[in-house]
Amino acid sequence: EKGGYEHFMLKEIYEQPNAITDTYRGRLLAKEGIVRMSGVENHKEKFLNANRIIIVACGTSWHAGLVAEYIFEDIARIPVEVEYASEFRYRNPVITEKDVVIAISQSGETADTLAAIKLAKQHGAFVFGVCNVVGSSIARETHAGAYTHAGPEIGVASTKAFTTQITVLTLIALKLAKEKGSISKSDFHYHLEQLELIPEKVAKALKADDHIKEVAKTYMNATNCLYLGRGYNFPVALEGALKLKEISYIHAEGYPAAEMKHGPIALIDEQMPVFVIATKKGHYEKVVSNIQEIKSRKGKIIAIVTEGDVDVKKLADHIIEVPETLESLSPLLTTIPLQLLSYHIAVLLNKNVDQPRNLAKSVTVE
Ligand code: F6R
Repeated sequence: EKGGYEHFMLKEIYEQPNAITDTYRGRLLAKEGIVRMSGVENHKEKFLNANRIIIVACGTSWHAGLVAEYIFEDIARIPVEVEYASEFRYRNPVITEKDVVIAISQSGETADTLAAIKLAKQHGAFVFGVCNVVGSSIARETHAGAYTHAGPEIGVASTKAFTTQITVLTLIALKLAKEKGSISKSDFHYHLEQLELIPEKVAKALKADDHIKEVAKTYMNATNCLYLGRGYNFPVALEGALKLKEISYIHAEGYPAAEMKHGPIALIDEQMPVFVIATKKGHYEKVVSNIQEIKSRKGKIIAIVTEGDVDVKKLADHIIEVPETLESLSPLLTTIPLQLLSYHIAVLLNKNVDQPRNLAKSVTVE
């Protein structure tokens, strides 16, 4: 059932090209220039008249929500707030009928997310679900939704659910941007074409696996790691750190790269691996200068870069390449090496990759 892979997690990492294709099949019609999503189409007015979108989720799904915040605001020009479901539900939040709430959940059973949905409904908000498990509690409790169609995710550490959630949310953002006229026709078409190419680029990113395993060997004995990114790749840094923590039990923190100098830089010494997402589009020069700051404090730099990169290559101890794409789509590629890295480190440390201690696949209690 693991299809020849040693663990479900590795199988699910490798399934991502197909999973993303399954997610956009029938929805992304690049030639026609159409995004077809009935759940959005049937409630178009709700989305277009919304004062803001509130995204509620937990864990990895919350990270997908953060990526969505960037693209919704960037191209659809709708204000977005991303909330931990557990914090949202207990802080007497301001919710009105003019709010659209998007709940993101792989399992569709997460107790806090479910409770946040019920609260939002009580206040008259329109609630849209992005779930993977068909017929799950969250799928049933929401007014409308879109499934990720990633197929069953068995490994406790979420991988293909994350990239397919981002895919669905990107499609929604594109559809709304087109409806609102906040994106140019040519930009819209270009986004669709580029999104369609993502599965083959993910497949290409997966080809770095042997190299990533070598990098994993170099850093497997680290006790603390930092993950840095900016813009669209800040949430990827958070997700990279979470993936390492949960399956290898190595302490890791994700930070926006520019926040370094406000505290975490004090941690850096020659023992500290720093994983930096430094792809070409989006604040590249600024990330390069952040890398220089780490280097001058003797931190070890492992950079995720765009194929053919030269500047970061000169500074970093290790680089891992991913294909070039639009900045807004780059999380779908930069996530891949970080998943593989965590996987290999955990395997090298003999950890139970598919069932890490203290964790459950679906968190049905708060
Ligand atoms: C991390 C992980 C968890 C889940 C979180 C939300 O790899 O799996 O952080 O993302 O428990 O679960 P869902 O998406 O099922 O609501």
